[in-house]
Amino acid sequence: MKITTLANYHQSYKESIDQPEVFWARVAESFSWKRKWDKVLDWNFSEPKVKWFEGGKLNITENCLDRHIETLGDTPAIIWEPNDPEEHHRVLTYKDLLFKVKQFANVLKNNGVKKGDRVCIYMGMIPELPIAVLACARMGAIHSVIFGGFSAQSIADRLQDARAEFIITCDGAYRGAKDIPLKAVIDDALIACAFVKRVIVCTRTRVPVSMIKGRDVWWEDEVKKVETQGNPDCPAEVMDAEDMLFILYTSGSTGKPKGVVHTTGGYMVWTAYTFQNVFQYQPGQIHFCTADIGWITGHSYIVYGPLLSGATSLMFEGVPTWPDAGRFWEIVDKYKVNILYTAPTAIRSLMGFGLEYVKDKDLSSLQVLGTVGEPINAEAWQWYYKNIGKENCPIVDTWWQTETGGVLISNLAKITPQKPTFATLPLPGVNPCLVDENGKEIEGNGVSGNLCIKTPWPGILRTTYGDHERCRLNYFATYPGLYFTGDGCLRDEHGNYRITGRVDDVLNVSGHRIGTAEVENAINMHAGVVESAVVGYPHDVKGQGIYAYVITEGHHSNENQTRQDIIQTVARIIGAIAKPDKIQFVKGLPKTRSGKIMRRILRKIAEGETSNLGDTSTLLDPGVVDEIKAGAL
Ligand code: PRX
Repeated sequence: MKITTLANYHQSYKESIDQPEVFWARVAESFSWKRKWDKVLDWNFSEPKVKWFEGGKLNITENCLDRHIETLGDTPAIIWEPNDPEEHHRVLTYKDLLFKVKQFANVLKNNGVKKGDRVCIYMGMIPELPIAVLACARMGAIHSVIFGGFSAQSIADRLQDARAEFIITCDGAYRGAKDIPLKAVIDDALIACAFVKRVIVCTRTRVPVSMIKGRDVWWEDEVKKVETQGNPDCPAEVMDAEDMLFILYTSGSTGKPKGVVHTTGGYMVWTAYTFQNVFQYQPGQIHFCTADIGWITGHSYIVYGPLLSGATSLMFEGVPTWPDAGRFWEIVDKYKVNILYTAPTAIRSLMGFGLEYVKDKDLSSLQVLGTVGEPINAEAWQWYYKNIGKENCPIVDTWWQTETGGVLISNLAKITPQKPTFATLPLPGVNPCLVDENGKEIEGNGVSGNLCIKTPWPGILRTTYGDHERCRLNYFATYPGLYFTGDGCLRDEHGNYRITGRVDDVLNVSGHRIGTAEVENAINMHAGVVESAVVGYPHDVKGQGIYAYVITEGHHSNENQTRQDIIQTVARIIGAIAKPDKIQFVKGLPKTRSGKIMRRILRKIAEGETSNLGDTSTLLDPGVVDEIKAGAL
């Protein structure tokens, strides 16, 4: 269902709130179901229980692929741009992609994967990654993609949590000037995961890898076996609307990352609906989302949203700054990209390289620009609007989360007005509110508060894998009856929403979510570290940087060496994305008498504020604050 005018937006919004079941039944009608649902929605946020399209049967890959074959069989589904611009690009039509997905689903079956099994995917950005994802969905396995930047330890934690017995990986991955040894990282992870039965290794960099007899097999050999078996078909498994489609791990304010669970029917409806309405995708357009499929943005807006809509999705293996900082613009020029969807951190980074890299590129194909992942500052917004969109392309500032499956608040390209640095209005079907510390709703406009959502939308998370109580506590218990986003938010006089950042202990570093507790745990694993406290501070390119206050045992002869060792420890435990930007050694941390660290003070010092630290009278030892201030980096 496509919203085509501003009036239509307002009318749809009203209907979606007044009669959600009527509204969503109509949206869902446009998909291919093997059996229609009995009930559109059944929910309460207290358990929480959310069921969309209960009783409905479907397979999401039939909706992504099979149903398009007649009209779009020869249309590119995926265009792949390699890391090295000298290497040939690849184009997979809808027909090609369906063929490969069926073939690889048969590979999975041959290797013992059954419906409901969890399959971990740890690959670089090559077409075999979406093929693997869709092959899981084809045969009813639950995929759990892990971003290629996570460490062996992080992978092991996730494999154990999901009890994933199957892994799909690559020998290595190319990212800019680097070769990442993916299989070697998997090998390290598997030392602690003896339950893993099979590792399927796809060839990319052809670095030497260890292949363990009985456990590791080559992707290409397994595909050949399927070919010689002679039956290229793989009927789509019949799934319940509420069967799990995937798990994606994400960081929270406490402990280890949690496995956010999305289910088949709701996620399908939500990603297609949001893709079509936010970007206003027109048939034949080329959509380029620069995210990695290891994150939710890649799941929803490289793979599922575009394919469900019969779109052409461009995926890029490399990084924006290699071989030079003009790479995105070169890709836009080369493929005549129409929609470009990227993150503020990338815009800020490229902005820093100047217009030199933009000026000789033809960007006239662009019609819609998008941003996601973190608040976009006014300067970056203007730069993107003027120099990339040439003041002709609306910028959709899409606010959403891993847990929401797809966009919740955004302007709709050329339909609803944009306002720089504002995500603007909720999509029809989304019912946001602002609450104060006590959970009391703050009504009216021109107000700020904590952003909550009152009613479910089809793409809402259903649980956190293996621990439903954790899901309840994390999202539904802070403000009973509401889904709490963890974000602070301002609503202007016209009802436009501006997300101001996390109000919990979650950092957003280059658009990646990292829990402060997670980083502290990793730092504390370093020998000699007694205690640490991690906060975010404003960073010109990354949005937020990681600032760690660390207490060590005794003396270290070389502070810098210790710093490097701590950084290395964090990279080993979590991954390079969580490396602290600044480490300040301190003798004590500001604690209350009950032992709670007063992060508010540490945050202010990290932000460069030395006066106005607020009330420090409840501190056990107010003296530590002066010492920390004096040593601030
Ligand atoms: O703080 C918000 C920020 O990113 C968080 C969600 O992170 P993640 O689950 O990793 O998903 C990122 C991609 C959807 C949110 O809680 N965020 C996301 N989009 C925006 C944003 N902050 C401001 N404006 C946005 N457009």
